[in-house]
Amino acid sequence: MKQPKRYLITAALPYANGLKHIGHLAGAYLPADIYVRYLRAQKRDVVFVCGSDEHGTAIPIQATKEGTTAQAIIDKYHPIIAQNFSDLGISFDIYHRTSSPLHHETAREFFKKLNDKGDLITKESEQYYDEQAGSFLADRYIKGTCPNCSYPGAYGDQCENCGKSLSPDELINPVSTLSGNAPVKKNTKHWYLPLDRHEAFLRKWILEEHATDWRPTVVGQCKSWIDGGLLPRAVTRDLNWGVTLPEDVADGKGKVLYVWFDAPIGYISATKQWAKDNDKDWKPYWEDKDTKLVHFVGKDNIVFHCIIFPVMLQLHGNILPENVPANEFMNLEGDKMSTSRNWKLEMEDYINDFVKPENGGSQMADVLRYYLTLIAPESKDSEFTWKGFQDANNSELVSIFGNFVNRALVLMHKLCKGKVPPLHAAAMDELDREAIDNIKATKEKIEKLLEEYKFRDALFEVINLARIGNQYMQKKEPWIIAKTLDTQPEGQQRIDNCLHICLQLTANLAILINPFLPFTAKKICHLLKVVDKILDWENAGSMKLLSVGYTLRAPELLFRKIEDEEIAKQVEKLKAAAIHKEPVAAPAVPAAAPAAITVKPEIVFDDFAKIDLKVGTIVAAEKVEKADKLLKLQVDLGFETRTIVSGIALHFKPEEIVGKQVTVVVNLAPRKMRGIESNGMILMAEDAAGKLHFVHPETTINNGSGVS
Ligand code: 2FM
Ligand code: ZN
Repeated sequence: MKQPKRYLITAALPYANGLKHIGHLAGAYLPADIYVRYLRAQKRDVVFVCGSDEHGTAIPIQATKEGTTAQAIIDKYHPIIAQNFSDLGISFDIYHRTSSPLHHETAREFFKKLNDKGDLITKESEQYYDEQAGSFLADRYIKGTCPNCSYPGAYGDQCENCGKSLSPDELINPVSTLSGNAPVKKNTKHWYLPLDRHEAFLRKWILEEHATDWRPTVVGQCKSWIDGGLLPRAVTRDLNWGVTLPEDVADGKGKVLYVWFDAPIGYISATKQWAKDNDKDWKPYWEDKDTKLVHFVGKDNIVFHCIIFPVMLQLHGNILPENVPANEFMNLEGDKMSTSRNWKLEMEDYINDFVKPENGGSQMADVLRYYLTLIAPESKDSEFTWKGFQDANNSELVSIFGNFVNRALVLMHKLCKGKVPPLHAAAMDELDREAIDNIKATKEKIEKLLEEYKFRDALFEVINLARIGNQYMQKKEPWIIAKTLDTQPEGQQRIDNCLHICLQLTANLAILINPFLPFTAKKICHLLKVVDKILDWENAGSMKLLSVGYTLRAPELLFRKIEDEEIAKQVEKLKAAAIHKEPVAAPAVPAAAPAAITVKPEIVFDDFAKIDLKVGTIVAAEKVEKADKLLKLQVDLGFETRTIVSGIALHFKPEEIVGKQVTVVVNLAPRKMRGIESNGMILMAEDAAGKLHFVHPETTINNGSGVS
């Protein structure tokens, strides 16, 4: 395969509104870093850019929470997040900021070029406005009563009590959080990127040209967006925090670029800053077709990097990404990671508890990198458990990898006078040759897997090589041969061969593990007394990495055992910090008053198309202890049987409903209720008397049938 001239690798710019957790790390930054380290070891021309996303409502909202200004928030979190990444070995070439003047300039120029070319359209619409504060209100700045659960503190974008996504128009009695007054509707003009004009290009580019080399989850998500119908997407907002529109744009005053328009342009401004700092030209990285652009993101960012940004790039005359290897989500100890429920492990916390020199040092950063790669959510959601973390460390890093390296060094000191022994060709046997062949074969396998973004599988191959090393040593038993040297002195040649091969294998392991566990690779280099230059990828597979007769350092353990108490402490800490949000009971509605029939505000087909409805059959039902309203159901959906917790216990006896067909929202994020994880929602209709009815097909049909 022809190699590109250069690489530009990006990792999603995290919002600088708070500390980032290991789900973020595993989703984008760690796989990107592994890929980049591999490319660098191959001496390819590569630039790895990232930085803080400092715009959008997320920042001023955090400022309100912390009682400070948006600027103070970004100035607080940007350096901490940058340091956390660095402590965990994430090796960006630049960690830039979208608040920088260079970024503002770059984003404005981008908008201007598209606007001047007629690539954007404008539309007028009515939006909530706070007359006292004199500003339009972002959805988060409006509060009111939830139409779904009657919770009085719901936000204009979501009710945090029942979890329902809302639009400000759905709120009952909306008030502005800025002044506490009822907002008014006011006309406003916005700029839109007409995605509908680009459907043919997107279909061809993604669904034909990248149908097989992009991950199926990524292509699948793009396909449903495109099939759902592409619509013009707003690129401006009425907000006083962000990149202002160019001065000469009519009616542009008081408006900023929508954060999703400006953030990905942050990759370009970061590249410009990097080029400035390093006396390089940034342009080829974004304009020359011989550049391979790869965006590493989590699955919530797929649409922006596969559909919206590519359209922007194409219109602006830039290159397109070659791949967007997005990861799915990583759960934590049986539940979705969540900042609002404080169910998470922040990078900062891990660093404080494990990586500080007194707690284990950088080797412990590698342990986290190891486990997160081992369970990387490359094709489906995965789960971090502290027990899994401990097992991965104790039974793989300590017992296989660390053990092999340690034994090789210990035996070399004991049986070969502390020097690299020679390889005696005449005394080589089948096992020796096999071990050497395995090193070369592993290198090739890893290369292929990394080029395909299969980081989990590639890491497995490295550990497997260490496992093979242990088995080889076990079969050769040099310590047994050593006991017979008095009578059979020629045995020394077999000992030499075994340890020569084990030491060359150790040096190879350093090269192969380097993209994944860079601190470990360095430590092996230290033990072998070789310079880091040896880690160049072209050296992998070589059996001449260590010169015969060379003295090596005394062995030191690469990894320490993680004790049960440490793990128990972490689990306790996680549980103690979690914020339990039990659903607040909705205020009682007087039974006599007939409810006015209201129609929710119009939605677009896109919104509807995201909901996956399927027919299922309730195969088991039981009451949930100490919860009057909840039933725990098992619903057969044809492709699987799921547990769903439903608030219908006051309406149905469990035994009455077993065997009933129901309609289920199957792609609703899992939610814990009374400690039970509910994986979906049953649709119910409510009559005028408040009685609930199942919504189901006229006659029984196959479970799993779609509803649309
Ligand atoms: O999801 C997020 O955290 C966004 N701040 C990602 C932006 S990625 C890119 F567009 F900059
Ligand atoms: Zn609600």
